[in-house]
Amino acid sequence: MIKKLLNKYGSPLYVYDKSILIKRCNEMIEFKNRLENNLNVDISMHYSIKANENLSLLKIIKDCGLKVDSMSELELYLSRLVGFNKDEILYVCNNITEKEMKNVHDNNILICLDSISQVETWGKNFPNTNIMVRINTGILGVGHSDKVITSGKVTKFGIAISEINELFNIIKKYNLNIIGVHEHLGSLFLNDKMDNYLEGIESFLKVVVSYFPNVEIIDLGGGFGVPYKDEDRLDLNLLCKKLTDLLKKYIKQLHLKEIKFEPGRYIVCECGKIYGIVTSIKKLNNYYIGTDIGMNDLIRPSMYDAYHKIELSPKRDTEKIIANFCGTICESSDILGKDRIVNMPKVNDNVVIYNTGAYGYSMSSNYTGRLRGAEVLLDGDKDILIRKRETIEDIINLQK
Ligand SMILES: Cc1ncc(COP(=O)(O)O)c(C=O)c1O
Repeated sequence: MIKKLLNKYGSPLYVYDKSILIKRCNEMIEFKNRLENNLNVDISMHYSIKANENLSLLKIIKDCGLKVDSMSELELYLSRLVGFNKDEILYVCNNITEKEMKNVHDNNILICLDSISQVETWGKNFPNTNIMVRINTGILGVGHSDKVITSGKVTKFGIAISEINELFNIIKKYNLNIIGVHEHLGSLFLNDKMDNYLEGIESFLKVVVSYFPNVEIIDLGGGFGVPYKDEDRLDLNLLCKKLTDLLKKYIKQLHLKEIKFEPGRYIVCECGKIYGIVTSIKKLNNYYIGTDIGMNDLIRPSMYDAYHKIELSPKRDTEKIIANFCGTICESSDILGKDRIVNMPKVNDNVVIYNTGAYGYSMSSNYTGRLRGAEVLLDGDKDILIRKRETIEDIINLQK
């Protein structure tokens, strides 16, 4: 199967399983429905496109009933292309230009602004409009790496509590209406960090009650984690119950019409794998299994020290070795997995990297002139090409 697909579509190859994607979407919809029943407030699940922006996956996510969160012109364009209507799109952005703001405004999309400076720029250009603002309560967020913790004293995100008076002055000056407030604590919490996540949410809710009691919308961001190694799955029933108890305490002091979430990873991560080829085996201080998959195809291990399960195919009955899996890139950080105990493979065996549906292709690059692999959707026994492999022509055309 792996070989057949690599022969057909080239290597490396991003492969997505439609049934897993739909399962995760449905779990998010169930979570939404349960919370909605418990709280009697509309709940919206906005899939965070940054995790994976492939149009075919977006279409499936849309068909499952999710909305989207976009953060760039391309993501907004893609959202419109697959048919999300303007009310289903939220633009959660960071440090954007006036030109980009104009595009959001002209598309009639609700924007969530992340600094008083950006609120000033928006207000100057588009007075008398509705906006959302992103708040940073100063409480440390949660995430799998410091690089993706997005709340707390040492992050670039949000408007600090100390800036709220100034925010209100700007709002007044341009007659803006803050209809919603947002906080995204960070990316990837599991059961062991659920209480930290809820503490972060509670500190946010206290700020909403104190400073923004009349908003219609609160947005609690994304961050729902998936197990990469052997952790337990996020207990969505428990999370729903704990969120219900917490939100009940605060929303009676508010006039909310809607609570938004922005899950990215939870939806697309587990449906994706990368297939590749073992290209060399050597022993230095350690065994190194060289593959044609590099940090340009999957940057998470080198960027965050993230763990991804890796398997070799075929399974061999050879000696066990401890090896680092690595790619084609001219950096020592080009490691896909460290100290993995595997049976000694042969050159041209295949390699499979798991849980690459989120922040895999979307964070890939052409570094050292590597072309991005194709993307294929597995739908039952069908394999469907959903993005062609990049060609040298594609790259050259941009420079002509
Ligand atoms: C504002 C915002 N919302 C949602 C997400 C999605 O996070 P996750 O994929 O962890 O659910 C991110 C990710 O960085 C984000 O920055």
